[in-house]
Amino acid sequence: MIVVLSDARDLLFHPVPHEPVNQLTKPTLRPLCVLAALLSAAACNPTPAAKPVAAAASANHAATGPLDYTPPPDSLIPHDEMGNSIRRGLALVTHTTDSLPAFAPGNIQCTSCHIDGGRRRDAAGLMGVYARFPKFMDRSGAVIPLEDRVNYCFTRSLGGSKLPTDSREMQDIVAYLAYISTGVPVGRHVIGESMPKMSKLAGDTARGAALFATTCVMCHGAEGQGNPPAFPALWGPKSFSIGASMAREERAATFIRHFMPQNNPGSLTDQQAWDVAAYVDSHLRPDSPGKHDDWPNGGAPADVPYDTKGHVAYRPPVGTLFSRANPSAGIVPPPASVIRSATAVHSTKGAR
Ligand code: HEC
Ligand code: HEC
Repeated sequence: MIVVLSDARDLLFHPVPHEPVNQLTKPTLRPLCVLAALLSAAACNPTPAAKPVAAAASANHAATGPLDYTPPPDSLIPHDEMGNSIRRGLALVTHTTDSLPAFAPGNIQCTSCHIDGGRRRDAAGLMGVYARFPKFMDRSGAVIPLEDRVNYCFTRSLGGSKLPTDSREMQDIVAYLAYISTGVPVGRHVIGESMPKMSKLAGDTARGAALFATTCVMCHGAEGQGNPPAFPALWGPKSFSIGASMAREERAATFIRHFMPQNNPGSLTDQQAWDVAAYVDSHLRPDSPGKHDDWPNGGAPADVPYDTKGHVAYRPPVGTLFSRANPSAGIVPPPASVIRSATAVHSTKGAR
């Protein structure tokens, strides 16, 4: 019994195994981790028999804060069918526009923001993401699966079309995301996921324009058009859409503050990052169909650049956004109830 327990702990806290990687990369990992959590919770309890599952689950969610987690390296991706899928997923997030031109028509890849295939801490880090879903998102007002979250980035951050959830390519991407989550217990957060918050400053677009000309133009171009495939577009018809997080000044400022200019990251002050973020986000970009339905219960962050319930657009770009070739493919509706949908059709036409 003691041997089993310490093995289970090894799985939890040393996610990069010496040999049996295959086992760890399969979806069976999740039950294993829950089992491990149950076992170790039981071990600390004087009357172990009756430890309820819910208690162990909520302990996982809250008790110990984010894990200091390093995902396994590409070199440990197994050489089998599962490994092939993981490798295809990595290729898809890295070469998104080449691989999936019908779904990613812009000049911007998943890894233009999720640096190092989502392994770079604080660059919208994707390590551990498989353990964070399903998840409630207030922007959607619903609990959504990981596939829908990936599709939010296809439709909003890439200004593209949603990938069918049951496609091989979607499952390859999910397989890769599960791989860089190996060993993270369900519901647990990890250090480096998402992006750090910036203290609030007022961005000045004129100062931002001057800084852009000296510090960003050589890679991203004077029109923000980028230089494919290495240098992504920052605005215009081939960049992220108005519905992307990066279209919010605070989100863009934190990314730029920590990771740009790419040849000298960390060299800008907070104020400079806000200024140049304001300048970047002041430009026209692809529209995001259905955007006014975001945050259906209100509570949009202050810098969202379009109207939503109870929120007035913050410094929206002036002019007409680029319309989308196939608007309906750019909307990912929240999961519909099979029980409630028959009546819901009458009250909230075509909506959530
Ligand atoms: C323009 C930048 C950008 C691009 C391009 C982009 N994303 Fe994202 N993505 C983000 C940001 C910002 C977040 C939100 C991070 C946070 O939680 O604050 C995010 C969140 C995610 C999440 C959820 C992370 C979590 O912890 O909840 C997943 C999964 C994801 N993206 C996958 C992808 C995939 C796959 C692609 C390519 C199809 C992609 N992204 C393209 C910026 C981008
Ligand atoms: C040396 C080239 C280089 C310079 C200079 C540079 N970038 Fe980038 N930028 C990149 C690359 C490459 C990426 C993709 C992520 C990565 O690989 O680091 C990127 C990604 C981005 C992104 C997220 C992806 C997107 O398309 O929106 C933003 C925003 C951004 N840069 C803004 C800036 C700003 C603002 C400056 C000037 C302060 C700047 N960059 C300077 C090369 C550069």
